[in-house]
Order: sequence, then structure tokens, then C-alpha cells
Amino acid sequence: MYEKTINFLKYKGMTQPEVALILGSGLGDLADQIESPITIPYIDIPDFPVATVAGHAGELVYGDLASKKVIALKGRFHYYEGYDLKTVTYPVRIFKELGVKTVVITNAAGGVNESFTPGDLMIITDHINLTGENPLIGQNIDNHGPRFVDMTETYSRRGQALLKQIGAELGIELKEGVYTWFAGPTYETPAEIKFTRTIGGDAVGMSTVPEAIVAKHCGLEVIGISCITNLAAGMQSSLNHDEVVEVSTIVKPKFKQVIEKLLIN
Ligand code: 6GU
Repeated sequence: MYEKTINFLKYKGMTQPEVALILGSGLGDLADQIESPITIPYIDIPDFPVATVAGHAGELVYGDLASKKVIALKGRFHYYEGYDLKTVTYPVRIFKELGVKTVVITNAAGGVNESFTPGDLMIITDHINLTGENPLIGQNIDNHGPRFVDMTETYSRRGQALLKQIGAELGIELKEGVYTWFAGPTYETPAEIKFTRTIGGDAVGMSTVPEAIVAKHCGLEVIGISCITNLAAGMQSSLNHDEVVEVSTIVKPKFKQVIEKLLIN
């Protein structure tokens, strides 16, 4: 099933990626820092899904970033766009097949924790899946991983510790917290945000969890970073997508420094 895609990407020179980057809303520009890039629009990749949402460019970029061979997904697939979760997580299976060991998953998220401020970066320590959906429903791919997946340490302790150390070294305050996945495309109601806080969620968003589940299933190390672009419903006057993109743009330089240092380690 993945063979056509993998053969094509290898043929195009994406032969030995070590780290995969999934770049969230407004964070795709990081892919422009990749040196000696091989860039392929999704539409040109056999069996690859095609992205639709504005602010998501929709291309795969392979090359060198901070001494590592990386493969970056510039523009991800969201469940709310109508893709099923097998499609949403297809790139993660491809990363695995190409030999990636670590996947860094990033997103734009709403802050739920009252100590968060728009512009904060949050190290994802764990997640809550409130959708009732799961990308692993259906026949198990036994050669990728087990039927029942242990989610005790989804976001690697090594990665979390490394990020904390990097934050300290760069003098960038990194928050930590639990990412809560809602399907979207509506933002949450104030009641849902209150509920999220009560059950231990620190941030809310519409992505990341399906990719993290599949990455964990197939034995990839997962590192997650949220860019807190706004406070969630009921915590500020109103919410809009332009603000999400705008704030993630402002955070970019900080985000870039953190990722580059992460890759050096
Ligand atoms: Cl407040 N909610 C969700 N679900 N996603 C977001 C967000 C809020 N802010 C940015 N992305």
C-alpha cells in the first residue's frame, strides 16, 4: 500500500531521513531553512493525500537542517477537512518506511491553562483524545506495531528533557502541558474549555493526536511542541483563524531556534 509512495520518494532522493517534522499552521516556513532541499508538492507524490486549507502549502521537503537529514511535512492533513484518519496519518507511515527514527510534531493551539500567554511554546507531555476517533481502528498492520498500543510514554521523556534543557540554554521559557484533541472545525465552547481544564488539559487543538498515535504504534520517538496562539473560548473576547496564523508567525524565530537546537542534539 505504501510502496508506490516510498519508491517514488526514494527515487527522488529522499533516501535517509533521520527526523521528520510535521509543521503546524503558520510554522511551515521552517522548511525554508532546510539546506540542499528536495521539495515535492503533495500532488506530485503517488498515493499521497493533497492538502486544502489556506496557510498550508502542501509539500514535502527533504534535506539538511542543523546537521540532521530531515523530512518536513509542510502542511498537514486535518480530520476536519474530511480526510479519514488513515489518510491524516499516511505521512507518518511513510516516514517510518523511509527509516525515520524521531518525529517532531508541531501545532498551533489554544491555551487552556490560565498561566499561558499567546506566543508561548508548550512542550507536549501527554494528550487527551476527546474525539472518540482513533487512526488504529481497523485491521492492525502487524509489521508496524501491536494491536493494543501502550500509551504510557507517547511523548518521549528524552525529548521533553532535551527541550527543557534547550529552553534554559536559549533563555526561552517553554511551558509544559497536556494537549487535548477536538475534531473541529468549530473552536470549542466556553463550557468545553472549562471541562478540558477540569480533566487536566492545558491546550486545545485540531491535530497532532492522530499522528502521535500512529507514530507511537510504529515505534517512532515522538516529540511534540504546541505554539499557543490564543487563549481558548471564554478566556478572551473572541477567536479567529487569522489571529492563529498571525501569532504563529510572530513566534516563528523562537520556534526555529528551539527546533534547530533540538536537531543538533
Ligand atoms: Cl482555541 N481550539 C482549537 N481546537 N484549535 C485551536 C485553537 C483553539 N486555537 C488555535 N488552534
